[in-house]
Amino acid sequence: MTDNAIVVRSAEPADSEGISELLGSRGVFEQLLQMPDAPVASRLESLRATDQQICRLVAIDDGRIVAHAGLHKTQTSPRRQHVRGLGIAVAASHQGQGLGRILMKRLLAWADDWGAVLRIELWVYADNQRAISLYTHSGFVEEGRHQAYALRDGQFVDAVSMARLHPRPPRLDHSGGAD
Ligand SMILES: CC(C)(COP(=O)(O)OP(=O)(O)OC[C@H]1O[C@@H](n2cnc3c(N)ncnc32)[C@H](O)[C@@H]1OP(=O)(O)O)[C@@H](O)C(=O)NCCC(=O)NCCS
Repeated sequence: MTDNAIVVRSAEPADSEGISELLGSRGVFEQLLQMPDAPVASRLESLRATDQQICRLVAIDDGRIVAHAGLHKTQTSPRRQHVRGLGIAVAASHQGQGLGRILMKRLLAWADDWGAVLRIELWVYADNQRAISLYTHSGFVEEGRHQAYALRDGQFVDAVSMARLHPRPPRLDHSGGAD
């Protein structure tokens, strides 16, 4: 299990350099859709934009950003307001120690208990076993396989799409009303 000294908090514009470094690092960027050597400026712009509809977290260990995770809007249509996309990345040095699980728990609490999110969706490379384990343990189910989804280190690779529906969607409670 991960060291208690790791702090998980909201991502701020000042974190843009640390997040860029993490997302561009070996053992991380290959599994995402990041390009190598992406400029920090591209991240700063999105971190500066405040949006209460999204959740962005970082995990800090000894002053270094070692993980980043978030829920983002996928489309602007009112008919997709109940949906968020999920992204998560843990530094190679901290993988397999439960940090992904901790961040996932925080994101799911945000979505289920505060964000009125019904559906969370994501795409993951079909051979990314650790990520698929984390998602499966967190209630995501596979919805389909996407052939040659992306180019990764010179090879077209497949991805699977996964989604999780709110396990207990909030309902109106009529029990406390007038007789
Ligand atoms: C995928 C990734 C986010 C997982 O985070 P992590 O901190 O390494 O993983 P964790 O240690 O928290 O959890 C994963 C493991 O715990 C297990 N696990 C997760 N949730 C669990 C739960 N609720 N109960 C029991 N076991 C659980 C999983 O089976 C998995 O086991 P494994 O490592 O033996 O395969 C991380 O490895 C990473 O960032 N990798 C590179 C980038 C990436 O792949 N991002 C996702 C792109 S879609």
